[in-house]
Amino acid sequence: MSSQYFNEAYGAKPPENYERYFVPAIGKPIATDLLCLAALRPGERVLDVACGTGIVARLASRQVGAGGTVAGLDVNSGMLEVARSITPTDVPIDWHESGAEDMPLPDEAFDVVLCQLGLQFFSDKVAGLREMQRVLAPGGRLVLNIPGPASQTFAVLAEALERHIGTQAAGFVSHVFSLYNTSEIRQLLNEANFRDITIRAHNKKLTLPPPKEFLWQYVYSTPLAGIVAEADEQALVALEQEVVRRWQAFQENGSLVDQQRIVAASALK
Ligand SMILES: C[S@@+](CC[C@H](N)C(=O)[O-])C[C@H]1O[C@@H](n2cnc3c(N)ncnc32)[C@H](O)[C@@H]1O
Repeated sequence: MSSQYFNEAYGAKPPENYERYFVPAIGKPIATDLLCLAALRPGERVLDVACGTGIVARLASRQVGAGGTVAGLDVNSGMLEVARSITPTDVPIDWHESGAEDMPLPDEAFDVVLCQLGLQFFSDKVAGLREMQRVLAPGGRLVLNIPGPASQTFAVLAEALERHIGTQAAGFVSHVFSLYNTSEIRQLLNEANFRDITIRAHNKKLTLPPPKEFLWQYVYSTPLAGIVAEADEQALVALEQEVVRRWQAFQENGSLVDQQRIVAASALK
């Protein structure tokens, strides 16, 4: 395996790989559950916070129809660039580049705020949730989800990253799955003045590509891409060998099967 292999297969920027690989395998199936819980109605005004490449916003746009509006907000300009470029022109979504902790949006402007797989990354989670509360109209609803703790599949990945690449790489995976305690999440929502809080956790079965493909798709769709770029080739080979060997236990008909706990929370303003 040469380093050319990695560059040729996944040479695109992480946000492009995120949309190409992560969204179909993980983002869209989880977004479908989130939207089911949100039960959007035609005509509603929706904000997707930490929208990434916009999967939730695009699905929401179909549901609220021409009488509704959808906006997406994310701190990462690369993610928004992909979001803008792949959203059909007949799907009108306003994209905003901003941190969730200080949104350039007016008070009470939305009926529903959605946030998928994002809250764990906020540097100030209460500030982000207070902003979501501020931009909601009275009686408006928040629906969000967060994954954690890491499934066995991702625990294997974190351990192998720690062993072969280093603490920073393993730390990224830990961060992804760092917020899952339902009491802690309820406390954050309370501090942001939400009411009627409902929090439920469920195991989501995700059918992923075969182990070797999924390993590199995940790495090159995330900030891990920048970290492994600094690693030497022997370390990458060792990483692949360990992960692919240990992921055999989670294979079904050639696919890697992940059982990931997802916490979903909904609340009212
Ligand atoms: C795992 S992605 C989820 C993206 C999208 N919601 C989805 O389901 O595909 C996490 C996103 O959170 C964004 N993010 C992280 N911290 C943020 C913050 N403080 N404010 C806004 N967005 C943030 C990242 O840029 C990234 O796009």
